[in-house]
Amino acid sequence: MTKSQLGSSPQDSPSVTVSAPAKINLILRILDRRTDGYHNLWSIMQTVALEDELRIRLTPHAGEIRLTCDAQTLAVDRSNLVYKAASAVFDRVQQPVGVDIDLCKRIPMGAGLGGGSSDAAATIVGLNHLLQLGWSKAQMTDIGQPLGSDVPFFLYAPSAVVAGRGEVVKPIVIEGRRWALLVNPGFAVETRWAYQELAATRGRIRSLSAGHSELNQDRGVSWAQLAAAAENDFEAPVFGRYPMLRDIKQTLRAQGAELALLSGSGATVFGLFPDETAARQAQKQFAPDTSLNVFVVSTCSGPLAISSRSVG
Ligand code: C5P
Repeated sequence: MTKSQLGSSPQDSPSVTVSAPAKINLILRILDRRTDGYHNLWSIMQTVALEDELRIRLTPHAGEIRLTCDAQTLAVDRSNLVYKAASAVFDRVQQPVGVDIDLCKRIPMGAGLGGGSSDAAATIVGLNHLLQLGWSKAQMTDIGQPLGSDVPFFLYAPSAVVAGRGEVVKPIVIEGRRWALLVNPGFAVETRWAYQELAATRGRIRSLSAGHSELNQDRGVSWAQLAAAAENDFEAPVFGRYPMLRDIKQTLRAQGAELALLSGSGATVFGLFPDETAARQAQKQFAPDTSLNVFVVSTCSGPLAISSRSVG
């Protein structure tokens, strides 16, 4: 990309809009602690159609990253994962351009829905496209992985088995789609705290079951298999500290959810339903509690979506 390709006005500059979906963990096992201080995990993750949106536009200001965001509680400085992702990309390319990124936040933060990691992945995917870098998913994973454990998954969305610290990602096919009712209590759970609490409260670490290992196959996985195998190691410590989250899970089950689980380290609890009508019916049960943020969304069937306005 050269300066002459950037256009004479911001309107002419190459830009893309990238949708950054939330994720849910259908299974989340936390295994042994590694020598780098992180834990090995084993998870089946799935994107859902609750999406942040990033508008990414190249500018002629070499190396300059400008980030704006509609969520006032989110810092737009160097601490933001979008900023860090853009900076990591620029560290690897020699093109005399800068970038303006406008982030529209819809995914609750500190919610176990991977919003920050998805935004970082969308930034890498968007810049890879705009700068015509031709990077593979593996190359983008190398850049994204140090930013957050969930970033690699989003590069392989919509459905994958995730292992290691989060960098070992194997896409899988889950047959058919479901509707998710996401119930977020309006407070955040800090991931680091959840790991510490899990380590302090659990006894022996259970190894990965044969049933879970079997799901890591090339043939498709059914929702019935996942409903039977669903579990999240964070439920015990997080529900212990926040009993209302266990109540939400029980309400979801009572409303007919095929599967109800804490997502990530919380605080969001989700239920899966066969269709939108069933999910919206269950949603009514939570309406009286105005402190909750509740979303009805379908599971995604494709990768992070890019739409271009003008490129090159
Ligand atoms: O990578 P992320 O920012 O999500 O991690 C937040 C914290 O969670 C880490 O600093 C670490 O304490 C803990 N963590 C871990 N093992 C992982 C992922 C996260 O111990 N696989």
